Amino acid sequence: MADKLSLPERYPEITKIPFHVGIIMDGNGRWARARGLPRVAGHKAGTDNLRRVLRACSELGVKVLSVYAFSTENWGRPPDEVAGLMTILGQAIRRETQDLHANGVCIRHSGRLEGVAPRLAQQIQDAVALTCNNTRITLNVAFNYGGRAEIVDAVKHILADGLRPEEVTETLISDYLYTGGLPDPDLIIRTGGEYRLSNFLIWQAAYAEYYATPTFWPDFDEGELARALIEFSQRERRFGKVPEPET
Ligand code: IPE
Ligand code: IPE
Ligand code: MG
Repeated sequence: MADKLSLPERYPEITKIPFHVGIIMDGNGRWARARGLPRVAGHKAGTDNLRRVLRACSELGVKVLSVYAFSTENWGRPPDEVAGLMTILGQAIRRETQDLHANGVCIRHSGRLEGVAPRLAQQIQDAVALTCNNTRITLNVAFNYGGRAEIVDAVKHILADGLRPEEVTETLISDYLYTGGLPDPDLIIRTGGEYRLSNFLIWQAAYAEYYATPTFWPDFDEGELARALIEFSQRERRFGKVPEPET
């Protein structure tokens, strides 16, 4: 019976839905180690979990989900782990893109395609092009992504476009980031128990609410997502101002 209820019905304590949720999907390696499995098995389970969390976000009315899949710093991991991650991403794109497209998911990529194997880079570009007019939910995949690299790339493009100093505003810089056109995240979730951004959306998350859970990413299910959104519902965002007096 309970699973016949929709997620909003199951979790009436969620009274505010963040428009844009960012997730630092951490803890795959430790999830695998706890099961005596290789780290790559954790990445596989983590990738599978993304489908479940995306579906839940869509059902709850989240409009943008940004996920941290691979950082510019993750190239420093052992070569077999990096190769495994690239293989898993390629497989996921091949397996999931049509279904995501049929479900109204607009796929975006945040990050650099330079340095990514040409075939994988092409797959990413094709998935983005195929789904770019979908409006139900945007899945923004931060892959080969670094927040500082993103700002460097934005500054380079601004200079290359010949913009004058007086034209440079916060809005302009936002527009030149990989996430140009997307609103800033309202909520950043980090799984795996650490309390840091690890170079994720460092410009965009300036006023995001931050939520951390010790749960490893492959175990982060609908109930865990609901817990984060319930906590978000109780937060008071002030953006540097004095709170509204109670009436
Ligand atoms: C996050 O899980 C996935 C990536 C960074 C690609 P980790 O691989 O960092 O897992 P832990 O933190 O070592 O458990
Ligand atoms: C952040 O996790 C990157 C991704 C989730 C893709 P890391 O495991 O790389 O971050 P650190 O090393 O703990 O800061
Ligand atoms: Mg980690």
